[in-house]
Amino acid sequence: MTEQQPKRPVLHVADLVVEYGGRAAFRAVDGVSFDIAPGEVLALVGESGCGKSSTARAVIGMEKPHSGTVLYRDRSVQPLGLRTRPSELTAIQMVFQDPNSSLNPRIRVAQQIAAGSRAARARSLDTEAPSHWLNAVGLSPTLERRYPYQLSGGQRQRVAIARALAARPDLIVADEPISALDASAQASVAAMMRELCVAADAAMLFISHDLSVVRLMADRVAVMYRGRIVESGPTPLVWEQPVHPYTTSLLAAIPHPDGEGVLPAAPASEAPASWSSEIPEALERTR
Ligand SMILES: Nc1ncnc2c1ncn2[C@@H]1O[C@H](COP(=O)(O)OP(=O)(O)OP(=O)(O)O)[C@@H](O)[C@H]1O
Ligand SMILES: [Mg+2]
Repeated sequence: MTEQQPKRPVLHVADLVVEYGGRAAFRAVDGVSFDIAPGEVLALVGESGCGKSSTARAVIGMEKPHSGTVLYRDRSVQPLGLRTRPSELTAIQMVFQDPNSSLNPRIRVAQQIAAGSRAARARSLDTEAPSHWLNAVGLSPTLERRYPYQLSGGQRQRVAIARALAARPDLIVADEPISALDASAQASVAAMMRELCVAADAAMLFISHDLSVVRLMADRVAVMYRGRIVESGPTPLVWEQPVHPYTTSLLAAIPHPDGEGVLPAAPASEAPASWSSEIPEALERTR
């Protein structure tokens, strides 16, 4: 079999550094590099505070990196400011953990989703009616006339996902998009996001604490630890042959079907001082 040519990445991130606070700057992201190809889902996992959201914000241009490169379709994300090329910006869609940060409280559900569709039309792409996208995320079209405050948290999150998908994105940056959903909905909504991403040949950066969902939906996984990617690779490989001690402890913490999981001891060489006082969220799930 001949080897396939790798597709040009939708997103190319190299040596990304994000710092907070003036002079005595704290380095939240410390030289992160990754590519995401069309139709590919890359999961970014790691303990709370390791720099996942900071990476995501830098990728979409919400956070100015201290240094490094972020290229979307070979172009720097920096020029994609709000004032320039707005139609290109809409090809990058974000879904955040808190749907309230992306939904307008004064606009009915159907119009929120229609706003996403308008973004697709601006790029000469076909659109679907809001009811189509509500169906796609497992919501009843009867919710179309509601305002966000008339929805449950999980419903709001699905609307936020529907709106992002209606824009027919080329790159989806999803930061904990399924945390607000109940366990059974998490897997199905994640699967739906993956399906639509693959079908559209879009790329997705998927940040999640739910490693069982990551295992199901991500083509590749990057494990982040204290601002750096300590391990990355095809998801099955990282799962079956983890090489970094942090990855091993992370994976050991996934609950088994019998409800048991292993709260790992911090690897001696790598144990951050915070582990004693602050158990990472991903590990907490096993309790
Ligand atoms: N705007 C900010 N100003 C100062 N420090 C920040 C800011 N945003 C994040 N940080 C710090 O940067 C570090 C990384 O934060 P980040 O939100 O990227 O972590 P995360 O991996 O997304 O964590 P979580 O899983 O809890 O969402 C944390 O120590 C956080 O306190
Ligand atoms: Mg975060």
